[in-house]
Amino acid sequence: MYLSRLSLTDYRNYAVADVTLGPGVSTVIGANGQGKTNLIEAAGYLATFGSHRVATDAPLVRQGAERAIVRGVVSAAGRDSLLEVEVNPGRANRLRVNRSPARPREALGILRCVLFAPEDIAIVKGDPDQRRRYLDDLLVAMRPRYAGVRADYERVLRQRAALLKSAKARGAVPAGTLDVWDDQLVSAGAALTAGRLRLVAAIRPLLADSYSAVSGAERDTAVSYRMAADPGTGHDPDSRPSVDLGESGDLGESGESVSGGDAEPDQEKIELVLRHALAARRRAELERAVCLVGPHRDELELRIGGLPSRGYASHGECWSLALALRLAAYQLLRGDSEAGDPVLLLDDVFAELDAGRRDRLAAVVASAEQVLVTAAVRADVPTALVGAEFHVAGGVITSG
Ligand SMILES: Nc1ncnc2c1ncn2[C@@H]1O[C@H](COP(=O)(O)OP(=O)(O)OP(=O)(O)O)[C@@H](O)[C@H]1O
Ligand SMILES: [Mg+2]
Repeated sequence: MYLSRLSLTDYRNYAVADVTLGPGVSTVIGANGQGKTNLIEAAGYLATFGSHRVATDAPLVRQGAERAIVRGVVSAAGRDSLLEVEVNPGRANRLRVNRSPARPREALGILRCVLFAPEDIAIVKGDPDQRRRYLDDLLVAMRPRYAGVRADYERVLRQRAALLKSAKARGAVPAGTLDVWDDQLVSAGAALTAGRLRLVAAIRPLLADSYSAVSGAERDTAVSYRMAADPGTGHDPDSRPSVDLGESGDLGESGESVSGGDAEPDQEKIELVLRHALAARRRAELERAVCLVGPHRDELELRIGGLPSRGYASHGECWSLALALRLAAYQLLRGDSEAGDPVLLLDDVFAELDAGRRDRLAAVVASAEQVLVTAAVRADVPTALVGAEFHVAGGVITSG
């Protein structure tokens, strides 16, 4: 698929912008602070209905304006779809698909993107929540129904945490109330965990190739999912899950096979593990008034050459691994959809890389159906990535 048009109104530093894009490579060149990342962010917004940079929509609206509008035409399998989002901070956003109102869940998947940004280093070097976010974002991109699972789980966590807090303040839990939230935490938590486990198994074989493709080095990379609620996957790095949670890696052919529905055998085992952990930690949870059990405590463990990447790997190795994780996501999405390759968005990544890695990354992405690349200077973009060229200055885009 590719984004054949992107139009912005009052988005970030753009008053109005309208760019026509073709398949293949498009490069956006501009000095610092001119609007390159904003443009990439807007393209990504049409795929996820969220920003990769900020958690709320308010910063997306141009200073002094009331709302922002992001429009895009997605060309996939010979058909065009028009996506329009009116971003209304503090109120509900309005989304339309081919001019008819739609809900985000209905529109997820029309545009699929994989966004590479300098901040991706945090997936490898940052806190576990960065890695969980990497997994969950990819899960939603693969199977949009996980947007609902994720939202359900987050809602249950918030409400259960509020109950634990008020129970602590009052010195008592209303009988049965916590059990109701435990049930919901177990079912939403197990669905999310099952999705993540299957995803990790699907990424695993792609990651090693992606790592050597980017770094040029044959190092062992390893990726595993550690369920905090399962003592068998505790801190011992060599331990295996104490129960077989079913990391089959089979994401299935149909959209629903990863859904973790009733027929999902591993989900029941995960539910059991969560239930045991909840029982074991109930006192601690009440004492601390914090949710201590669930996939919000899990970790995606990454290793290079047998050592944990976080705290051991060099800066360059961490970068290669972060790029490899994005490339693996790209390969996974690419193999999954009949709608064609996901759009690759490369925001300012080449400036961070040495010449060898620049050229290798360029060689891998050059064959994608569409690649949008930004750079502060033309010379940072590898010569293998030739295509249309745009310039951006002060929120104004010009072509050629
Ligand atoms: N809501 C907003 N209203 C107006 N201007 C904004 C808004 N949000 C961000 N900006 C401005 O947009 C400008 C461009 O930001 P952007 O991150 O796109 O720059 P960039 O071209 O990617 O720069 P760099 O090369 O440093 O990454 C910045 O000067 C920023 O202050
Ligand atoms: Mg930028």
